[in-house]
Amino acid sequence: MNIRSFVSDDLKGIYEIEHSAFDVGPYNIDEIIEMVFSKDAFTLVATDSDEYIGYVTAVPLNEYEVDIESIAVIPKYQGRHLGDSLLDSIEEIIKKKGYKKSVLEVREKNYVAINFYLKHGYVKSEFLKNYYCIPYKGSKNAFRMVKSL
Ligand SMILES: CC(C)(COP(=O)(O)OP(=O)(O)OC[C@H]1O[C@@H](n2cnc3c(N)ncnc32)[C@H](O)[C@@H]1OP(=O)(O)O)[C@@H](O)C(=O)NCCC(=O)NCCS
Repeated sequence: MNIRSFVSDDLKGIYEIEHSAFDVGPYNIDEIIEMVFSKDAFTLVATDSDEYIGYVTAVPLNEYEVDIESIAVIPKYQGRHLGDSLLDSIEEIIKKKGYKKSVLEVREKNYVAINFYLKHGYVKSEFLKNYYCIPYKGSKNAFRMVKSL
């Protein structure tokens, strides 16, 4: 297993991770391109041999805060602490770049992800009604979660 910085050739691999990890509303290729090439965004990809197994993208909101736009691990690698490594690694980069706060949005009923973020020290800061267009487990709502770095 290897975690490294994103290069343009990884776009298809990220698309495949998104579509394998998210049951509802994975990013399409245009959304991925917009996200990973947005100003000052940074993306890490995880591979095992030639297989794409996980990724994380963070996009600055302003000079102090960064939004974790997406983090995903393909199902067969879930539960093996790759998500932990991806989040720890991107937070290290965020901190080194001088940002003070990490922010993210997570679906109200994505209990696995909420548990994952709580483990990493994020706290719920806001309830976002109808934040998503497509429902997941009957809900379009989300929580905003934040962590001081
Ligand atoms: C969320 C996600 C990235 C976590 O990655 P992962 O590699 O499976 O998680 P890890 O093995 O590193 O687990 C880290 C912690 O997350 C929590 N967690 C992971 N799987 C869990 C599960 N099935 N149930 C409850 N908590 C879970 C636990 O706190 C775990 O720590 P512990 O093992 O010490 O108890 C992964 O489940 C995923 O890709 N989910 C689909 C995409 C998604 O929902 N992304 C988040 C969008 S906001």
